[in-house]
Amino acid sequence: MKAVIPAAGMGTRFLPMTKNSPKEMLPIIDKPAIQYVVEEAARSGIEDMVIVTGRGKEIIENHFDIAYELEHVLGSRNDREKLAEIRHIAEIADIFYVRQKIPLGLGHAIYMARKHVGDEPFAVLLGDDIIVSEEPCVKQLMRVHQRYGASVIAVQEVAREDVSKYGIVAFEEVDDHLFRIKDVVEKPDADEAPSRLAVMGRYIFSPEIFDCIARTKPGKNNEIQLADALNLLLEKEEVYGYAFTGTRYDLGDKFDWLRINIEMALQRDEFREKMRELLKKLQQ
Ligand code: UTP
Repeated sequence: MKAVIPAAGMGTRFLPMTKNSPKEMLPIIDKPAIQYVVEEAARSGIEDMVIVTGRGKEIIENHFDIAYELEHVLGSRNDREKLAEIRHIAEIADIFYVRQKIPLGLGHAIYMARKHVGDEPFAVLLGDDIIVSEEPCVKQLMRVHQRYGASVIAVQEVAREDVSKYGIVAFEEVDDHLFRIKDVVEKPDADEAPSRLAVMGRYIFSPEIFDCIARTKPGKNNEIQLADALNLLLEKEEVYGYAFTGTRYDLGDKFDWLRINIEMALQRDEFREKMRELLKKLQQ
């Protein structure tokens, strides 16, 4: 299975940082967000990925390329550990790039990968969403896809005050963690939301989604919304929602970025004690 990783958005929620730097390259301690996403796809068994980029996103390509000069310097210092770490980044997967010339929305970004993906089911991982879990989130979705042969989207329950930030689904429960999706409403008011189950940034789509995107008219913000295309798909095929196990961080959101850095620091031996002490001190 191939993966499509949209990373062409403008990141307006993270200005001014994103004025001239992609939010997908925001560091989580010392690793850019999109590397976690590419690693999740690779850990799920995906070897062929398309990253959808745009103007000003060239450093994403450079990050996954071989840095010859850097490798030369590390080699001459005999720093094998760093050398292996740096070389690994260029070898995680076969990564292809396609540009979305104008950021016309997430649906439109995914459509840019149509020719590369062809007529096969494929995974989508948003380039600014990190999901920390033992079994990679996409792998969890793949299991459902294998069983039902249908599109599957990652969902998670959110607090009532947060439903207006997400695509919210109307559903029928099928099994533990598993739902048949009936409708997707993009960023509804809390009073109008059909549930509290929110669509998170991981999907397995049947190739039929491309025709649905092609038929989708610009919606909110004049963008080709994935939620609108999903509703067209629902008219033709079954779509499942899977309540995955894991913690999701939206790197487009400043607080989530702060949170993941602190939580990851608490998991790393070199920072754990110092970070605990700092947090204790700040509480006093
Ligand atoms: P977001 O809605 O989080 O991204 O899209 P955005 O538009 O960059 O963010 P804000 O709201 O202005 O801060 C989710 C994912 O879809 C990609 C983004 O790069 C992100 O990874 N995307 C979004 C595109 O590739 N193209 C688009 O036109 C829009």
